[in-house]
Amino acid sequence: MSVISVPQAFNEDELYVDLRSIFGRSLFLKCEGFNFAGSVKLKAATEMVEAAERDGDLKPGTVLVESSSGNLGVALSVIAASKGYPFLCVTDARCNASARLLMEALGSQVHVIAEPDAAGGFLGARIDYVRALCAADDRYLWLDQYTNPGNWRAHYRTTAPAISAQFPQLDVLFVGAGTTGTLMGCARYFREWHRPVRIIAVDSVGSVAFGGTAGRRMIPGLGASIPPPLLDESYVDEVVRVEEADTIRACHRLASRGFLFGGSTGTVASGALSWLAQYDASDLTAVAIAPDLGERYLDTIYQSSWRQAMYGQDVIGAGSPPPDLGASLRARHHVAL
Ligand SMILES: Cc1ncc(COP(=O)(O)O)c(C=O)c1O
Repeated sequence: MSVISVPQAFNEDELYVDLRSIFGRSLFLKCEGFNFAGSVKLKAATEMVEAAERDGDLKPGTVLVESSSGNLGVALSVIAASKGYPFLCVTDARCNASARLLMEALGSQVHVIAEPDAAGGFLGARIDYVRALCAADDRYLWLDQYTNPGNWRAHYRTTAPAISAQFPQLDVLFVGAGTTGTLMGCARYFREWHRPVRIIAVDSVGSVAFGGTAGRRMIPGLGASIPPPLLDESYVDEVVRVEEADTIRACHRLASRGFLFGGSTGTVASGALSWLAQYDASDLTAVAIAPDLGERYLDTIYQSSWRQAMYGQDVIGAGSPPPDLGASLRARHHVAL
């Protein structure tokens, strides 16, 4: 039995889904969506808030402000409500409606940026807004998940040790890259571990996190329109890039077996399976991190009208069974660092 008094005290850290029966290849999906914020971001939010309290930056009267595509905003809303801090989340038009409603239900204020910045995209526009707010009023405290070391430290302290305890023979770890907090925390931990683990970053096509050309990305969570300041590529062995259509197909394949995951889980699963197929790595012990669950995406990824509007056709094929990933997996982009 778990009995808690504050929501951030509970997080399921020992749940994995073996994808072998769904995709025909062994891959253990670590589920990070089972906590009161519904995502992996509860860990980073808790670590950053507690560090700011320890440092004396966060005290009664402080207003927390953060740029988030949804999940960090929900996590900070949970913690801010629990601790009695006001919180303003600056997000953009791609933030899903349910994340916004959740934040508001938890008592937070949400500001939606409607237009991307010409150079920095939506992320650049969100950050400009937060900076202007903090410059105008010193009651605001921006934790800044993009540069805050608490973001990666949370995973160095919790996610990576939890994986290493369950998988002492781990060979490969697949981690989606947004701010790269999860990626860097795990990569740093496993660099110091007793045996080598291959760290594979999974990014979306159109993201410039690891270089390349910026392109449209409609699925929140992964990818970046500017290089992530926390990223140190020397810790990353390889990058796999995934098309959004493949993300959506992987999500639907999982949902067809009763596992309703969020968009970035589709990206990570798709990229990981692609990599494992390419290297015919059936004897490797492989884990991938699933950042959240699917309910926040019911009106996007799991809605055929949205898919049609975004991609010009329903990428999963209306009424047809979920397609075999095989062909599209082989066409994926790999970048060795
Ligand atoms: C759904 C989802 N997936 C993946 C990520 C990426 O995690 P990180 O920022 O640690 O790279 C996030 C971050 O917000 C997310 O919300």
